[in-house]
Amino acid sequence: MTNGQQKALATLLPIYSISLSGQIIDFEKIFGNANPLVVEIGFGMGVATAIIAESNPGVNYTGIEVHTPGIGRLLMEIERRGLKNVRIIVGDAVEAFNAVKTESIYGIHLFFPDPWPKKRHRKRRIIQKPFTNMLASKLQGGGYLYMVTDWAEYADTALVELSATEGLENAYERFAPPQIWRPKTKFEERALADGRQIKELFFVKASCTELF
Ligand SMILES: C[S@@+](CC[C@H](N)C(=O)[O-])C[C@H]1O[C@@H](n2cnc3c(N)ncnc32)[C@H](O)[C@@H]1O
Repeated sequence: MTNGQQKALATLLPIYSISLSGQIIDFEKIFGNANPLVVEIGFGMGVATAIIAESNPGVNYTGIEVHTPGIGRLLMEIERRGLKNVRIIVGDAVEAFNAVKTESIYGIHLFFPDPWPKKRHRKRRIIQKPFTNMLASKLQGGGYLYMVTDWAEYADTALVELSATEGLENAYERFAPPQIWRPKTKFEERALADGRQIKELFFVKASCTELF
């Protein structure tokens, strides 16, 4: 961890973090507005998070992460860019989503989740049931879940899992075309340099009117 990241954690985390207290999080109160909310799972160093948030000041972003150097880095970006629309939850995504109100989120971002390539570790992958059911339940009608991975086999299983998740519909036939608004991170550049293909999945929550 750099000195800057360490300092950011000490001074900025109390300002920009949302603590999990076992209660449902009141995002409107925290952000001071009722703007749409996008939640990102595992933002890593948070560079993409900060760029996307800066480009969309009318959307609120909350990133969930456990990796402290990355949390420090995103805090530094929030300050440097003067972002008013970013908050951080330090902790596990499953626990964090438990504290999110049903049908309240506009978008879920999941960029390069840990692929857990070994067969015996695949049960640790975040995109599988019952967690996908929980994610779908937290999206509002018309909301979206956007996942990007450089692990082809994970992309295939995620496609199956998300397609079989009640309430979610694939916005494309199979994989999505690259969403041009998503900035490329070092992680993605390394994957491309290593010859891995990037696969994108974009699912939407059916709106209530479509269900009835
Ligand atoms: C492979 S990295 C990708 C980071 C970033 N999204 C990017 O594109 O560069 C996956 C990240 O997800 C985080 N992560 C994994 N499981 C998590 C969980 N259950 N809750 C929150 N973060 C998690 C890890 O700490 C790690 O930073």
